[in-house]
This record gives sequence, C-alpha cells and structure tokens, in this order.
Amino acid sequence: MLHIFDPNTRTDRDLGTPPPALTGNTVSLSIDGHAIDVPEGTSVLRAAALAGIQIPKLCASDNLDAFGSCRLCAVEIEGRRGMPASCTTPVAEGMNVHTQTDRVAKLRRNVMELYISDHPLDCLTCPANGDCELQDMAGAVGLREVRYGYEGENHLVAEKDTSNPYFTFDASKCIVCSRCVRACEEVQGTFALTIDGRGFDSKVSAGQNDDFMDSECVSCGACVQACPTATLMENSVIDQGQPEHSVVTTCAYCGVGCSFKAEMKGNEVIRMVPFKDGHANHGHSCVKGRFAFGYATHPDRLTKPMIRDSIDDAWQEVSWDEAMQFAADRIKAIQAKYGRDSVGGITSSRCTNEEAYLVQKLVRTAFGNNNTDTCARVCHSPTGYGLKQTLGESAGTQTFDSVMQSDVIVVIGANPTDAHPVFASQLRRRLRQGAKLIVADPRHIDLMTTPHGGEALHLPLRPGTNVALINALAHVVVSEGLEDRLFIAERCDPAEYAAWNAFIREERHSPEATESITGVPAESVRAAARLYGSARNGAIYYGLGVTEHSQGSTMVMGIANLALATGNIGREGVGVNPLRGQNNVQGSCDMGSFPHELPGYQHVAQDGPRKAFEDAWGVTIDNEPGLRIPNMFDAAIDGSFRGLYVQGEDIAQSDPNTQHVEKALSSLECLIVQDLFLNETAKYAHVLLPGSSFLEKDGTFTNAERRINRVRKVMPPLAGKEDWQITQDLANALGYAMHYDHPEQIMAEIASLTPSFRGVTYQKLDELGSIQWPCNDAYPNGMPIMHEQDFPIGKGRFVVTDYVATTERANRKFPLLLTTGRILSQYNVGAQTRRTSNQSWHDQDWLELHPHDAEERGINEGDWVGLTSRAGDTVLQAKISIRMQPGVVYTTFHHPVSGANVITTDNSDWATNCPEYKVTAVQCEKVAQPSAWQERHRAQHKKQWGLLKTPEPTEPVVK
Ligand code: SF4
Ligand code: SF4
Ligand code: SF4
Ligand code: FES
Repeated sequence: MLHIFDPNTRTDRDLGTPPPALTGNTVSLSIDGHAIDVPEGTSVLRAAALAGIQIPKLCASDNLDAFGSCRLCAVEIEGRRGMPASCTTPVAEGMNVHTQTDRVAKLRRNVMELYISDHPLDCLTCPANGDCELQDMAGAVGLREVRYGYEGENHLVAEKDTSNPYFTFDASKCIVCSRCVRACEEVQGTFALTIDGRGFDSKVSAGQNDDFMDSECVSCGACVQACPTATLMENSVIDQGQPEHSVVTTCAYCGVGCSFKAEMKGNEVIRMVPFKDGHANHGHSCVKGRFAFGYATHPDRLTKPMIRDSIDDAWQEVSWDEAMQFAADRIKAIQAKYGRDSVGGITSSRCTNEEAYLVQKLVRTAFGNNNTDTCARVCHSPTGYGLKQTLGESAGTQTFDSVMQSDVIVVIGANPTDAHPVFASQLRRRLRQGAKLIVADPRHIDLMTTPHGGEALHLPLRPGTNVALINALAHVVVSEGLEDRLFIAERCDPAEYAAWNAFIREERHSPEATESITGVPAESVRAAARLYGSARNGAIYYGLGVTEHSQGSTMVMGIANLALATGNIGREGVGVNPLRGQNNVQGSCDMGSFPHELPGYQHVAQDGPRKAFEDAWGVTIDNEPGLRIPNMFDAAIDGSFRGLYVQGEDIAQSDPNTQHVEKALSSLECLIVQDLFLNETAKYAHVLLPGSSFLEKDGTFTNAERRINRVRKVMPPLAGKEDWQITQDLANALGYAMHYDHPEQIMAEIASLTPSFRGVTYQKLDELGSIQWPCNDAYPNGMPIMHEQDFPIGKGRFVVTDYVATTERANRKFPLLLTTGRILSQYNVGAQTRRTSNQSWHDQDWLELHPHDAEERGINEGDWVGLTSRAGDTVLQAKISIRMQPGVVYTTFHHPVSGANVITTDNSDWATNCPEYKVTAVQCEKVAQPSAWQERHRAQHKKQWGLLKTPEPTEPVVK
C-alpha cells in the first residue's frame, strides 16, 4: 500500500513485543551472526526485528505483552535446550541466537500445518487476502502441503457474529491466538472477551457467550486491529475490499486528538486505522474515530451555497460568488444602518487552527470589531481564565502519557470512558498498575469500576457544590500539614499564599462543616485529601463538571490552589489537566477566538501585541473587548446586533435556554451558517455555505495536551472549497483582501504573530509528528510538561476561593437537580454521529433518575416523563438508575428533539459567562405527549427541510 507522508520517520512496523522498561543498561548478543546491542529486558523477537531480522510470529504484537502460545517464533539459542519462543525469551549478555535452522524451520512448518488444517482455504475470496498474517506466515515458513486433510473435526462451519454494525466475527477463521482478548484487556481495558473452553474446544467469546452487541464491548476496534486473520474484520473491508493507499491525519471528534491512517481506495475511505506513532493515542482509538466517519459522505451533506431573503422562504441554490456577494451586501447594509458593532462571528472548534484564525481575523478586519467568540465560551472558558490567573497559562500542564507516572489520580466532573475514551484506556492501564483513583462526581462513572483497577474513592457531591468540596480538600491538606512547604517557598507568591492559607484554615471549610453543603461524608473528604496530599505524584483531571457552573472559574482556581499547595506541578505524573471536549477547542482558543484576546491569549488592550496585528493586517483594532456569545443573543433580541457569521457551530442546539437562543436567531437580519448539514442553527439562516469535513482539508488541530497535530486532506471537498477558502472569499467580498494558497501560509502568519507558536511550521510538524506549544526559540521542539522551572507569571499564585451557592437551587416547585453529560457513541450535538451506525447504541436521549425519585412519582422504566425547569419543559423517556443519587437526574444532549437545552437556564459563570449546564432545578412527572416546544420543533424541522427541497431525514437520522 502506498503511504502518503513520511514512512521513514513515522513508522507503524510491528516489532513483536513492547519495548522494555528502560533500566539504562544494554545487552550485547548475536543473532544469525549479527552483533546487536539492545536495552536490557528486550525480547529476542524484538531484538531481531530491530536488527532487520524477521522471525515468523502469530500470537505476538508489540502493543501486547508476550504470550507465547503459537510457537511460530521458536529459535535455537546456543547452550539452551529445546527451541524457546523468542517472544517470551529476554536477551542475555553474549547470547548466540539462530533463527533459521532446519530444526526451527521444521517446527514452524508443523505448527502452520496444524493451523491451516482447521482453516478455510478460501484465500482468494477472503476479505483479508493480501492483509493476513496467517497467509504471510504460511508463505514465510514455506508451507507447501497440509497432511492432515479437512475431514476430521474442525471449526469450519462455526457461525458468524454480525451483531456489531462495524465489524464481523467469523469464528471459522479463528486460530485462537488470543490477540483480540489481550487487546481488549491491555489496550482498551474493557475485558469484554475471553477464551472459553480448552484445547480443541477453545473459542473466543464475548461475555457469557453473548454476541458482541450484547456484551460489554464498546466497539473500540482494538481486537479487530489485533486479529492476524480475517476472523475479526471491518465490514467496510468485507464490502469494499482492501484499501490501496493511506494518509496520516487527526480525528475530528474529541480533544484526545488521535492520529489515524485514513486507508483509502481512490477518494473513498475504506477504514480508519489508529496510527501507532500517534503521540496522543499510540495506535488506539474509540468507536467514533475508528468507525464513525460515514457522516462525511452522508446524503444530508450540503454541497451547494444557498441564499434566501427570509427564514420562511425556500432556499435558492446559487454560485459561490453570488452567495458571497449576497452575504457581504447584507452585512455591509446592516453595519451602515446599525453601526460597525452590529455584526459578529463565531469560530468553530471543529475546524482547524488556520480556519479559526481566519474567522477571527475576518471579524477584526472586515467587520472591524472584536465581536468574535467560540464554543469554548460554553465549555472551558473558565479553564482559560482560572489557569491564567493561577499558573499564568490557559492550558493543561501535562502530556497524556504523564498519567503513567501518577500514583494518585483525581477525576473531577469528567467521565473519560465516554468523553475521552482513548485517554481513559491509558488511565485504566495505570489503575491496573496500582495507582489510586478519587472521583468527585454526583454520578457513578464507569472509570470507578475499572476491571482489576482497585477500589475508587467516590465523592458523590451535590451538583453546584464543587468549590465547597475543593476548599474542604485543601483545608485538610493545610491543617494536617500535607502541603509541600519547599515548593510553596520556592515557586509561589508568599503574600498570596499567606492570605490563602489563613482563609483555607478557617473552620467553615472543614469537611465536617461543608458536609451539609456537599453531601459528601467528612471522612471521605479527609481520606481523599490525605491520599492526594501524601502522593508521590498526584494528578488532577477535570471536565465540564468543573467549568459549567456559576463558580466554574473559582473551581478551576481552587484546583490550581490544591495542586500548588501539594507541589503537584511541573513534572511527570502530576499537574492540572482540563479534559477539553472538542477536537480543536484548545486551538480555537489559542487562535484568538475570544472577544478580549488576539491569538496567543494577547489581550486586545495590550498596545504592543495589538500594534503587531494592526501592522500585519493593515487595520486598526479596537482596544475594547467585543461581545461574548450570550451578549450577542441579548443584543440581537434588543435590536442592536443584526448579523452573525457562524462557522461550524450549532448554537441553537448546544447553547443553554434554547427558546432564548431561538428568539435571538430569529431576530437577525443576516445569519450566515457555514456547516456540513442543515443543523438547528441553519434553520434560522439566510446564507448557507457548505463546509468541508476533516477529511477534505489540510491544517492543524490542537488537542487537550496543547499538541498540534496535522490534518491532511484525503479527498476533495464535496462542495469544492475547504473552510478556510470560504472565509477568505467572504473577507474578499466584504472588501478586505485575503490571499492564501494553502493553510501552511496561514500557519506561517500565525507563527509570526503569536509568541507561543513562533517555531511552528508544517515542516517541523512532519518531522516531529506533533508539537506541544509553546514552540519558540526557548523550546524549539515544544514543551511537553509545563511550569517545570517557573511560571509564565513568575510565581504561582494562590487565589482565595470563597464558596458562593448558585442561585439555581432545588425548591418545592423544582425539587430535583438536573445535570447533563455525553455518552461514548454520540458526539455533542450529534450532527456527525447521528449520521452513522453509532445510532445503534444510542438513538435517543434518556432521563436517568434514581429509583427513589422514580417511585415517589410513579415513574417506571421507559415511561415518558415531562421535565420542567424555570426556563422551559421537555419530555424524555425514563431510565431508572442507581448511578444517580436521590434528588439528581441526568440526561445526555445528543438529539435535537430531546430539547435538553430548553431546560437549562441562562445562569452562568461569574467570570466568563460559561453557562451553568450542570445545575438546573427541575420537576419530573409522568406524561403522555411531547412538550409544546417539541411539537414546535418537529413542525419547524419539517418546514425547514421542505424549504431546502430535499427529502426530510427521519429523526433520529440513521445511516
Ligand atoms: S471492540 Fe474493543 S471493547 Fe469490543 S471486544 Fe474488541 S477490543 Fe474489546
Ligand atoms: S479472533 Fe483473531 S485475534 Fe482473536 S483469537 Fe481468533 S484469530 Fe486470534
Ligand atoms: S478518543 Fe477522541 S480523538 Fe480518539 S478516536 Fe475517539 S473521538 Fe477520536
Ligand atoms: S509469536 Fe511467539 S509464541 Fe507466538
């Protein structure tokens, strides 16, 4: 297969067994007469592979611990009896190994003969033909005949399991090498597979003889990738045949930022194979990145620019030029009538850095204001604010790999197995090695039941009480002398520490005093604080359960305080790590999407940086921040904000208080939506600009570790333009000249204006594979671990974090608290995953409630339940679950018709306006019909698809 991109430096060769833990010692040996030096602990199989000597193998793979079951890798070693398996034999000083003697050749042929005698000989019609290790090994050992015949007992008629929509299990081809079982355990950490039975009867089984779909399997595909035969095989390969070439690119779902080889046939993706040299994922993936790419060619894709005068008119297909002229004329007319500040833009955290950069540039140049914002407003803006105040940089401090050095891992308000699955697999590996886990979450999360991962300490706090909990943890650390005095003295501001110390010692922050607020038993809080405070390496990972609160920024600062107080900053295994949601939400923030910051978090009020941008862009930039998204909505309803350009963001579904958002969008005179699909926001648009998927463009994404990864085009854009070209055309139509021929030139401009990106080039990205910013003269290859010597603000800053209860409290009218989250198979607004077979796992959002709350209301599993808050009401089906604590209900928000955000209010974080999605006071009752909003939504959906003159997709949309 032809591999586009750098096969010499970025390898995915299988060296047979994993690298050993490094001791610093090397061992010298001879293999087939070649003198070789390798690290102590290396297997003979790996040592040979490193020297370019291929020993046949079947059960070994370098991402799995050696197992030694197939015997194909047998070698002879001088002075040793028999023919040991080279995969389970470590090298020894002076060892003399022979890999190609007559004896081993005969043994290997005999082994292969036994395998082949129980294997269908349908190679020519087998989907794995040409990509089958069994076939390769039969050739490698020189098997020419099979003496045993096929008449005896065999497995050739074993039934296929086709229950999984993405792969098939054809047991007739299984050689019981157990690679799939070990991949599920060691790589994924799910333990869904076992080998049942013994000897001839042994077979791979998902769960208790379940099919894959009914088992614990989460469809990550690690077993499919591990299988050396056609037993576990992607359906896309079975249907379409083997791919012909591959391109390395980056997943466009979550903030883990997994690297993939897009394996192609012509312009068609046949399969996505996680790239072994991907620095964030090391060859692993989840169900979304590996399998859920079909949305890119879904018939719902918008492929023609469209315009209309009013949102009640039918869409009119026009040329790109006409669409741009129409959009530009409208925006100019609005500005002429209502003023320069009456328009704005929203950048997309799904799009590339280069594309986000261009949208904010368009707003600051062609629109002439700072009215630019991004979806981070509604997720991690408190991270940006809180970490900047305390540590001096708006980003996570570690690499994902750093968790392998952590002894105590604290997960707060995050559900990594669903939202950051590949990182969760790594985290589980560390838990299996003995690290301790503390989870602060109102809900039981799957990470807490990691197989062989030890017992987790759960702090099941009430929604909205994070700050009281983090203060209580810090109180114990300080009052029990668990702080790191040396670190504090050397690295932190002494006056601020003294003020914080006095504050946090107050009795009102003790676990006993806060128990009535948080609901967490004082002894659990004390145990957690002692565990984290006395850990050699303690790491904190957190998610939207921290940020999406009225005190989101306070909580982020509280987390940083705790890490500083315990010296858990600035080395491997520690740190403060926001698990950022979208693939490029870190990047969209880095690229100056916020109304107060230019790229690289340079405040618009800072004369020096602003002048540099003014000189480069040839405009004057306002030194006052522009409007945030919620301000844009309010101003739209007030009448002062009339035009909005939205790149790849579905604010009508994702932002809180849907009815308020709908009112704002309906008030606009020009809404320009650039997207893949007619999403909820596009139903209010006047201009539709068909966007491009990640497969159709070049650029970069920056993941949650600040890792800049290349996105490489594997197919031409369906609508003819990459997103950056669309923004460029719009800027030109508005009269601001932009001219780039390739995103590489945009990155060169970003690097020239952004200190933390100064050394980033596409060439360097190709050479290094990825770069964690800052990348500049001081750190030419980037900075994996931040704050090792000092902080960008000099000393670490403690901030006093008073707990202030949210105004969104349960009361007699709304006695329950609703909190929200994501599920593994769907992604955010679901526009992509709903258009794939991931629907098989989650085709609607459910309302989870505790049996006690359900019983009190006479609600049974599957009943339709009306959910009412002070913002609105909706109807969902009930799922009774002891994951919930009494008084707390939960839903996901992946399906528009669920109206999860009709319920959420416009309460928000005091510092950043990040909405308080995680706390909404609600009431539930059994009902028989959809809510009024849902009826309206259905009618609107039907009408708008009619105006597009395209067959209306059934909802939910299934590929
Ligand atoms: S797809 Fe993943 S979770 Fe499912 S059985 Fe295979 S390795 Fe295990
Ligand atoms: S399914 Fe594949 S990987 Fe698993 S035991 Fe069978 S041949 Fe080996
Ligand atoms: S973990 Fe995230 S980045 Fe990786 S494959 Fe899954 S969705 Fe994509
Ligand atoms: S590869 Fe070594 S025993 Fe199978």
